[in-house]
Amino acid sequence: MSADTQVIKKGILLAGGSGSRLYPLTQVTNKHLLPIFNKPMIYYPLTALMLGGVREILIISSPHDIGKFKALFGDGSDWGMGFSYAEQAAPEGLAQAFIIGEKFIDGDSVCLNLGDHILIGDGLPERIQKATRRKGGASIFGHHTSMPERSGIVVLDKQGCAVDLEEKPQKPKSNIAVTGLYFYDANVVEIAKGLKPSLRGELEITDINKAYMERGDLNVDLLGRGYAWFDGGTPETMSAASQYVELIETVQGIRIACPEEVALRMGFIDETQFGKLIDKAGGSPYGAYLSSVLDDM
Ligand code: G1P
Repeated sequence: MSADTQVIKKGILLAGGSGSRLYPLTQVTNKHLLPIFNKPMIYYPLTALMLGGVREILIISSPHDIGKFKALFGDGSDWGMGFSYAEQAAPEGLAQAFIIGEKFIDGDSVCLNLGDHILIGDGLPERIQKATRRKGGASIFGHHTSMPERSGIVVLDKQGCAVDLEEKPQKPKSNIAVTGLYFYDANVVEIAKGLKPSLRGELEITDINKAYMERGDLNVDLLGRGYAWFDGGTPETMSAASQYVELIETVQGIRIACPEEVALRMGFIDETQFGKLIDKAGGSPYGAYLSSVLDDM
């Protein structure tokens, strides 16, 4: 992807929350660092942003956990990335990310991916790149769900335009969930600042999307068959996502969501730097996989 057609170059990874649905797993470990099969959960949403060409990333987590992310990722330069960090004092809603991240955003367009958000499917990088190239407005992904009452949902008209959005509705008007990957123009910060907390006391991302919908500026890309979407927030979904990743990786022999491989394939790093990352992985199966990537190129 040519960098000059890319509008959204910055992304936020939100990795806060208490992880109460995963207790006791989350007693000493942040949810987003728990495994999905053979990698930390956060590698999946991170690589989704990287595949969209996003290299400047703000990682937001709780004051208690932010140090763990710094220890894992550093400044990102090993992967040709730029990582910075900010704290969310209390889990007061996804939309708060844009208020916390105001300095990082600095008047630019920005995307947000949830740290437990796992989206897998052929052609996804191209669809994410399309969203990062779109000038103005907002873009979201829709995905069919059998449990619409558990997420934000979008109602589409016959032309595929959003006509309604609801956050965890008791009587859902649609079975199209809004996934946890969002793209916004620079207006998002002011929109977030103008929000009032919902009944559950959070600044809702759905209210931001509604503001764009009301301006006629919300694009919805509906993912069809063959895409898998998991929110890794419960033991059941973590297990399901792990099994899915294991199955694909075992059958195909290629791995999903390896940041080192994505950095190489996206041209963020060269083969010399990639070689250093192979060395860092030591004699692990992960390192052996990275070596096989190089042999393949
Ligand atoms: C959040 C959003 C919801 C969205 C979901 C995607 O819900 O509020 O609109 O559909 O993420 O995973 P949460 O599961 O964080 O409560």
